[in-house]
Amino acid sequence: MKERLECVLKEAMEEIQAASDLQSLEKIRVKYLGKKGPMVEILKSLGKLPPEEKKELGKLANIAKNNIDSNLEAKKHTIEEQVFLERMQKEKVDVTEPGKKIEIGGLHPITMVIEEVLDIFKAMGYEVKEGPLADTTFNAFDGLNSPVTHPSRDITDTFYLNDSLDKCLRPHTSTVQIRTLKESKPPFKMVSPGRCFRCDTPDATHSPMFHQIEGMIVDEGITMTDLKGTLDRMAKALFGEETRTKFRPHHFPFTEPSAEMDVSCFKCGGKGCSLCKGSGWIEILGCGMIHPNVLAVGNIDTERYTGFAFGMGVERIAMLKYGIEDIRNFYENDMRFLRQFK
Ligand code: PHE
Repeated sequence: MKERLECVLKEAMEEIQAASDLQSLEKIRVKYLGKKGPMVEILKSLGKLPPEEKKELGKLANIAKNNIDSNLEAKKHTIEEQVFLERMQKEKVDVTEPGKKIEIGGLHPITMVIEEVLDIFKAMGYEVKEGPLADTTFNAFDGLNSPVTHPSRDITDTFYLNDSLDKCLRPHTSTVQIRTLKESKPPFKMVSPGRCFRCDTPDATHSPMFHQIEGMIVDEGITMTDLKGTLDRMAKALFGEETRTKFRPHHFPFTEPSAEMDVSCFKCGGKGCSLCKGSGWIEILGCGMIHPNVLAVGNIDTERYTGFAFGMGVERIAMLKYGIEDIRNFYENDMRFLRQFK
């Protein structure tokens, strides 16, 4: 019996020593100290022994049982500590390590130009209006006095949205002129920024999606002088007070007379350089006195009211202002490009 006890104790100790996790330790506990284990069996069989032997062996059995118990407990602590240390090692945070730099966003150059131009017109009492990107062909062309044969109406130029060709992605923000004329009564002054679409193959200066800012005023006694004064003021605010403007005759179906406005080159001051291609002048917008046929869409008394309108390409202004050479930069979200404008 004594040998058996020693043998059990030895085996148990070895197994405890070899255990590497809490589950196998628990199995060992059940195996040796459980109801069906050898220790219980030994203690039970003590009853059959003579009192002297029983006393001595009982003592030894208890010592062995306590020994197994305390070894199990000690090993449990060792394993737990090891598990804890391993976890600490894995989850280690080096508080001295430099953090990840969080990039703070900035305004997109297109947004900056739009906001700058809108601020100039808001200061002159203009209201900011927005129109939908998809509009009727009437608002995009017919209402604007564009003949059905006008090349810009071609399906190779405008993105139509249905077979009847009466809906399209607006090719310019002038749609908002018609919307305003139909919705409200003069006098009004509004500017309208937004995206426009044309079937253009992307290259350094063309994009099928681009931005324009439209402007329109209708009131009693509005003349070409108002147009020139207002747009000259805008050019000076946008490009610097020394900027000069000139108006060249042009043609748009929706204005009469029509013009394109040039600004003196803000890079060379008008002497001629690569930006203005040696001419000293840079074309920045189209404008004109609103055609009576357009005013008629809003049932406006053309004897009493006149107005002017203009439309400018935002990308073109941003490219000139910030020296950007490729229009595609605006849409690619390349941080190396965008970071310059923060
Ligand atoms: N809609 C014209 C264009 O896209 C610009 C313009 C607007 C010209 C208003 C005159 C008056 O080129």
